[in-house]
Amino acid sequence: MSIAGKLKTECDLSDIELKELLETDIYDDKLKISADKVRQKFYGKDVYLRGLIEFTNFCKNNCFYCGIRADNKKCERYRLSKEEIYGCCREGHELGFRTFVLQGGEDLSYSDKDICEIVSNIKAAHPDCAVTLSIGERSKQSYIDYFSAGADRYLLRHETANEVHYKQLHPGSMSLDNRKRCLFDLKEIGYQVGSGFMVGSPFQTTECIIEDIRFLQSLKPDMIGIGPFISHKDTPFKNFENGNLNLTLRLISVLRLMFPKALIPATTALGTLHPQGRELGLLCGANVVMPNLSPVSTRKKYELYDNKICTGEESAQCKDCLERKINSIGYKIATDRGDAKTLS
Ligand code: 5AD
Ligand code: FES
Repeated sequence: MSIAGKLKTECDLSDIELKELLETDIYDDKLKISADKVRQKFYGKDVYLRGLIEFTNFCKNNCFYCGIRADNKKCERYRLSKEEIYGCCREGHELGFRTFVLQGGEDLSYSDKDICEIVSNIKAAHPDCAVTLSIGERSKQSYIDYFSAGADRYLLRHETANEVHYKQLHPGSMSLDNRKRCLFDLKEIGYQVGSGFMVGSPFQTTECIIEDIRFLQSLKPDMIGIGPFISHKDTPFKNFENGNLNLTLRLISVLRLMFPKALIPATTALGTLHPQGRELGLLCGANVVMPNLSPVSTRKKYELYDNKICTGEESAQCKDCLERKINSIGYKIATDRGDAKTLS
């Protein structure tokens, strides 16, 4: 079957087909329409909200692309107290959020006991909510403990599935093998797992992206987060170009066709690259948005990349703004937890 024929439905794609799709724009309309059809088949017009709480920007790592890397001495560091975190959840719950994503740099000053306490207190206060952790690479035992404390989901992007590329993005102290180990441990424990990668990160080739897709097929994640690389002025990658909008959108569509039931966010990075980036992402197959619930006083400090949006707004404003965007393109916010649909 021709590529155009395949794109009419959920599909698997060969390496050659993927390369052709990713490198040309001639299929863009077909891709978008088919991806949207597949997304509507499983999710209708629903868009899931995840309330993002960026609770610490301390990080022991030194990823070359990231603005909160340990060696960035210009980054003003902060940690939220447990009470501040609970306050964000209370506010989020009142605004209708039913998922809280606790995201942070790899900050070992929160012990496993602290993380477990935070998770179980949030679950006790809001039994109707899901808690997602996004706190990086930890031991299997730590992941087991957080799961026992009530954590439902875990986000850990693999960043790139190509060994050589991984070394170009990270210092020698980090390894792709450990990253993968974490992801498979998380799945085995029973989390709903999210992985993903940046589009247009320095040195990325189409072949790297194809490897990323193949890795995702082996992991079978419930959530897949991709967003454009955006350079940060105080990192070793400050002079690299940002990722490309159309390639990111094309990839969202390809992922929707290949992973029909996945939860795919229209990311903040996509909204930073283009004023309508998140709406475009939703129209190309994404079905999740992650408004910021962090205190306004700390938002600017969680600067993974330059000019990150949503750093000046109150949580309610951010949610209203996104709700307007979602409604403007004919979709609607879903009010339930939005668990992953079981993979067939
Ligand atoms: N541009 C875009 N995304 C970035 N991330 C980190 N730094 C950047 C950047 N400069 C992404 C990584 C990480 C997620 C939390 O943010 O993929 O996993
Ligand atoms: Fe945060 Fe628009 S979504 S201000």
